Amino acid sequence: MKFIAVLTLLLLNACFLFAQKTFTVSSPSSSVLLQVSQKVDGSLYYAVKFKRKNVIIPSMLGLKFSNPAVTLSAFQITSVDSLTKNETWKPVWGETSSIRNHYKELKLTLIEKSGSDIQVTITFRVFNDGVGFRYEFPQQPNLNHFILADELTQFALTGDHKTFWIPGDYDSNEYLYNTSRLSEIDALTASTQEPDIAVKSVFDANAVQTPLMMKSADGLYISLHEAALINYPAMNLVLDKKNFTFTTHLVPDAAGNKAYLQTPARTPWRTILISDKATDILDSKMILNLNDPSVIDDPSWIKPQKFIGVWWEMHIGKGTWDLASGKHAANTENVKRYIDFASRFGFDGVLVEGWNVGWEDWFGNWKENVFDFITPYSDYDIQYLTAYAKQKGVRIIMHHETSGSVTNYERWMEKAYQYMVDHDMNAVKTGYVGKIIPRGEHHDGQWMVNHYQRVAEKTASYKIMLDAHEPVRSTGLHRTYPNWLASEAARGSEFNNAGKLGMTPEHTTILPFTRLLGGPMDFTPGLFHLQLNQFEKNRTQRVRSTLAKQLALYITMYSPLQMAADLPENYEKYLDAFQFIVDVPVDWDDSRTLEGEPGDFITIVRKAKGKDDWYLGAITDENSRSLKITLDFLETGRKYEAFIYRDSEKADWETNPESYTIEKRVVTSKTKLNIWLANGGGCAIRIIMLPK
Ligand code: NOJ
Ligand code: CA
Repeated sequence: MKFIAVLTLLLLNACFLFAQKTFTVSSPSSSVLLQVSQKVDGSLYYAVKFKRKNVIIPSMLGLKFSNPAVTLSAFQITSVDSLTKNETWKPVWGETSSIRNHYKELKLTLIEKSGSDIQVTITFRVFNDGVGFRYEFPQQPNLNHFILADELTQFALTGDHKTFWIPGDYDSNEYLYNTSRLSEIDALTASTQEPDIAVKSVFDANAVQTPLMMKSADGLYISLHEAALINYPAMNLVLDKKNFTFTTHLVPDAAGNKAYLQTPARTPWRTILISDKATDILDSKMILNLNDPSVIDDPSWIKPQKFIGVWWEMHIGKGTWDLASGKHAANTENVKRYIDFASRFGFDGVLVEGWNVGWEDWFGNWKENVFDFITPYSDYDIQYLTAYAKQKGVRIIMHHETSGSVTNYERWMEKAYQYMVDHDMNAVKTGYVGKIIPRGEHHDGQWMVNHYQRVAEKTASYKIMLDAHEPVRSTGLHRTYPNWLASEAARGSEFNNAGKLGMTPEHTTILPFTRLLGGPMDFTPGLFHLQLNQFEKNRTQRVRSTLAKQLALYITMYSPLQMAADLPENYEKYLDAFQFIVDVPVDWDDSRTLEGEPGDFITIVRKAKGKDDWYLGAITDENSRSLKITLDFLETGRKYEAFIYRDSEKADWETNPESYTIEKRVVTSKTKLNIWLANGGGCAIRIIMLPK
């Protein structure tokens, strides 16, 4: 087995020996090396090394069109350009207040060789922590409209890496992660073990989604993903287990085509993020750097924020979304109670789900016109609540569940956003539960990718912030559309309440290494009542986390939009712990991952924007752990007061999850902390600079 692997490696490297041309680009610090080679038949291959170790061995580049019917796999190189970029830019909000974009670029201008004369350029950017590349089709006489049958891009890996994967699926990303060798990937079996996912379309046992996280035997952390997914379908990867090579598989449309493009056109960036330290993966800005700058000239209306919501009480059976049940949660009195609570603790927003007519038959009937997004239920006095919220200094967050009827939503969109403006709302949570009707498009196909972008643009034109649930996975577009604060696009906290598998303690130690590499997630942390049979006695589901870990998630799961997901009455029981959620910021000057291992643990510190205060979050999986850290990120010579929210000695997610301890102590940059995290536990620390 080993011998065969070595032989394959030798043969693949031999390809380069017989190559007609080879171009080599090293990253600014020389840690990453890209080699692009062309064989005598005109085919193009790329390979990537990190600190002299192979990461991607020669892998094919190319595309296949169905109309015109051309395979672009052999090329004539007409020009080669290179440049170096070193700039710093400031995001509207984020984990750090400034971002360095430093790379070397190689641009190959090509003509397809078999007679089509189609022009294409491939641009490679080589960063110190990885590589991004994309195909571009300039405007040209021989190519105007064209249809893509697939992309032929491959990622050939060096061995049977440990992999954190979810099934390749055209519609859902709400899976638990599987951890296995590449050779053990079985997407079909994994998906049949997930009965609680509303709509699934897994197409191949060897297919996985990105961001895909891997760890090689020689200690490299490798993530494959894409950046700037615009006017194109999402990329799944199908593994050839004989040689550990992934081939791109784009999400099709209802007719089986992959993408309809018109020149000038370009694909998203294909990204390979690499480090020998897991912590560097979490601190990478490569995906953001590959996205275009913000299109919003005056972003002053965009505000990172925390919110509460008439939400979890429906998920755990206290109330319902629909009116007919007699337990309608979004009634004027109840919403008023949430507004009071938000105002008392300084939250900006109150999400109200189930406010609008249609929830009686919203799911499973696949009717087109269930919701109109402008008609409240009779017991929801929107005029009164708008005025009341305003008086209390709080804003109601709009909810637009489309139930997959996206053409219907497109018809109502403008009216719905105007309705929000008229009622003083400037943030919307959208949702795409179920099959996309009427045509049967997929959640991750080009048509829906364009829809999500249209929503981001239209909401921006009404000065509305966006939180999308059930959309395609994130690819850094929040740089271009900073009003798109967050997406769900993964298994969020709501799955703590879902039937068979729920949410494992390790899930939150994997998400930052996978889904979050593309952008912020509306995970909805902050559950304090961890047995979920509070209102329905037969409910067996529970949150597999300690209460202290729920606090730590506000740091380890970065988002400029953070929910305090539990019910006001549950927070009232633990107001001392709730204080951390009240205090924790959502926008930062600086962030540093102190330690981390996907599937095991993560510790991150962040500095509050414009302040001298730091916040630390540490989480562990199902195993308890001793956190040993020195606070050397603090300013030397200054004293700070630390508020430590940790698991008590007896805490355990299974037997004693709500047991925590809060300590206050003076610390400096020399302080060494030694804190125990329970099974499924965590720790959150607020560190405030004291006056001199
Ligand atoms: C799924 C969303 O993720 C959840 O937050 C929402 O409550 C339901 N859909 C209903 O829209
Ligand atoms: Ca969801």
